[in-house]
Amino acid sequence: MTKLKHPPSIIDKLGRPLRDLRISVTDRCNFRCTYCMPREIFGSEYVFLPHKEILSFEEITLIAKSFVANGVQKIRLTGGEPLLRRDLDRLVAQLATIPNIDLSLTTNGSLLAKRAQSLKDAGLQRVTVSLDALDEPTFKRMNDADYPVSRVLEGIEAADAVGLGPIKVNAVIQRGVNEHAILELVQHFRGSPHIVRFIEFMDVGSTNGWNLEQVVPSQEVINRISDQFPLESLQPLYQGEVAQRWRYKDGSGEVGVISSVTQAFCSTCSRLRLSTDGHLFTCLFAQQGHDMRTLLRDPLNISEEALSNWIQQKWSQREDRYSEIRTTDTARQKKIEMSYIGG
Ligand code: GTP
Ligand code: 5AD
Ligand code: SF4
Ligand code: SF4
Repeated sequence: MTKLKHPPSIIDKLGRPLRDLRISVTDRCNFRCTYCMPREIFGSEYVFLPHKEILSFEEITLIAKSFVANGVQKIRLTGGEPLLRRDLDRLVAQLATIPNIDLSLTTNGSLLAKRAQSLKDAGLQRVTVSLDALDEPTFKRMNDADYPVSRVLEGIEAADAVGLGPIKVNAVIQRGVNEHAILELVQHFRGSPHIVRFIEFMDVGSTNGWNLEQVVPSQEVINRISDQFPLESLQPLYQGEVAQRWRYKDGSGEVGVISSVTQAFCSTCSRLRLSTDGHLFTCLFAQQGHDMRTLLRDPLNISEEALSNWIQQKWSQREDRYSEIRTTDTARQKKIEMSYIGG
């Protein structure tokens, strides 16, 4: 089979091509991870987006097609928790008709066991599952919603069984909170096709009380693992890969680290985020987005060409590199929450 060529990518002000689109399909979540949606802020009084402000599946698909025509090769559905969006399979089926893209989803895994088969049938290719600890007290303390570890593990197994693998398992590591989970996760998933990735705790949003002392540098994570299970580094699979890849020297699989704080990867960042209400964010740490929904819903001005021109204009003006220039001051600035913008 000959591989279709992707349309050329737009290039931003720092020479970076547009390749990845991350679409947040809901700002809601059934977890209240302390580093993402702390319950003090996201409590019963918190006002989530009303229905009329949320992009429809048809609107999302139209936007996605326009991005693919401008060089996007990977689409990831995120949230909030994407599986809370009603009929998500229908959106997956619509996006799966776009030829030649990598279509994946990031989930907390709590609803995955029930949904894996229908997502696969709809055309989803891969899933990434978040799992921060394997012991119940730590996991429940971090998700702050009383979800047991077993639910997530069942979700991972179900996804694997229907062919949504190899599955990536994301763990955010916080000093003094779940450092012990590093080796436990390694021991659990070593020897399986799943790839655990340890993420440095980031200062996304303005509500998670981030401070540098709580970050466990990726190099430390790698040293801790390698002391017990010797590792060697692997080449990235493509330019701009977020995770650094490592393999166990004894051949029992792969792990990764995502080092946004200690080794920023902005210089190759090809990612764009679309929020649930149709705003475009050119950086995870942006303070504001670009309103695409108004253009999309304007019957007088909307056309494929208008959409495409708008996208080209926004990306070609981009010069974000937050992680590279982070200071204590910028970390304290008011930023958009990750649950809204899409992880
Ligand atoms: P694949 O390579 O397709 O599996 O995707 P990925 O490596 O981008 O993985 P994933 O989407 O699971 O991203 C992993 C995590 O890395 C995210 O949940 C974020 O925490 C972090 N991350 C992803 N993209 C960015 C980014 O652009 N900037 C920063 N600072 N962090 C990011
Ligand atoms: N730092 C690092 N990773 C985070 N995530 C959410 N908030 C943060 C943060 N403050 C991760 C989640 C999930 C993905 C969507 O983003 O754990 O794996
Ligand atoms: Fe929900 Fe994921 Fe945020 Fe946790 S990290 S609160 S699971 S969106
Ligand atoms: Fe990209 Fe912004 Fe993350 Fe840097 S901080 S890698 S520019 S999303």
